[in-house]
Amino acid sequence: MKKIKVSAPGKLMLFGEHAVVYDRPCLVTAVDQRLKATVEITDDNMFCLDAPEVDIAGYQKPMDCLGTGEIPSGAKFVEFAVKNFIEKYPLTYGVKVTTASDFSSQFGFGSSSASTVCVLKALSELSGKKLDNKKLFDLSYKTVLDIQGKGSGFDVAAAIYGGTLYFVTGGKVIEPLTINEISLVIGYTGIKADTVTIMASVFEKMKAQPERVERIYDAIEKLTEDAKIKMLEGDWERVGKFMDFNQEYLRDLGVSSEKLEALILAAKHAGALGAKLSGAGGGDCMIALVTNDTRKFVESAIEKAGGQIMHVKPNAKGVRVEV
Ligand code: PMV
Repeated sequence: MKKIKVSAPGKLMLFGEHAVVYDRPCLVTAVDQRLKATVEITDDNMFCLDAPEVDIAGYQKPMDCLGTGEIPSGAKFVEFAVKNFIEKYPLTYGVKVTTASDFSSQFGFGSSSASTVCVLKALSELSGKKLDNKKLFDLSYKTVLDIQGKGSGFDVAAAIYGGTLYFVTGGKVIEPLTINEISLVIGYTGIKADTVTIMASVFEKMKAQPERVERIYDAIEKLTEDAKIKMLEGDWERVGKFMDFNQEYLRDLGVSSEKLEALILAAKHAGALGAKLSGAGGGDCMIALVTNDTRKFVESAIEKAGGQIMHVKPNAKGVRVEV
């Protein structure tokens, strides 16, 4: 096998963001917008990358120089993924990667982690190593940490396992949940969130007010545990309430924004069972839990408040080889 095509889903955080960076659980669902990577073995011992969705065209360097020199931000995750793979499982050939995405990297659906997962899955198949999901997770998570320094790995887990997961920091627990349908409306703020900067600001807050922030994390942990039970029971009214509470704690943490609050308020006034930001905050998307009856009212209220509706479905399949 010389060439393989792999795809992995994006993600949406349902509960537990930020707290999950500090040894707490979260609930995450994979979405049906996918990142695709075609990975080819070449005989020139070069690493080549075309990633039009992040403005990378004809990027290349020798395989033994991976991770060195100036690396454009759009190439970092794929380059470090290949580097980490060959450090563990040396290859005697070159690697050409071409990525394509169903979604813009602006939305916060996790395109960087999905591309990392795709490339590592492809190399694992092409080299015959056939890594299981946990090994794939560990190598992908290491790649994300090499670049970002911090992060829980929830996005990597969603890209690999798909579905809806109960996840604890660093993959200490990755538990797939059997949930048939989560009826969500997703509103994009139009603003790209800078996850690394927001995580750093939360870290500063933790240093300044450790007890207060720990209390917030404990409360978010409790909500996440309760939300897991109520989601499994299909008690969406309660899940909606928990979303509202989770949003209050995120606001306390200082990671919400005016635009997010406006979209969340609009969704609530239009009859959503609950609504909150999803991910780091500061921008990206908010989510609202709806019923079939309220969906269209919530969607139009979010649009009126200046949001863009993202038509994505939760509970999507994890990484897979495309035929
Ligand atoms: O910005 P996003 O959607 O990648 O979400 C970040 C979520 C955090 O909990 C803040 C960070 C993490 O790695 O879990």
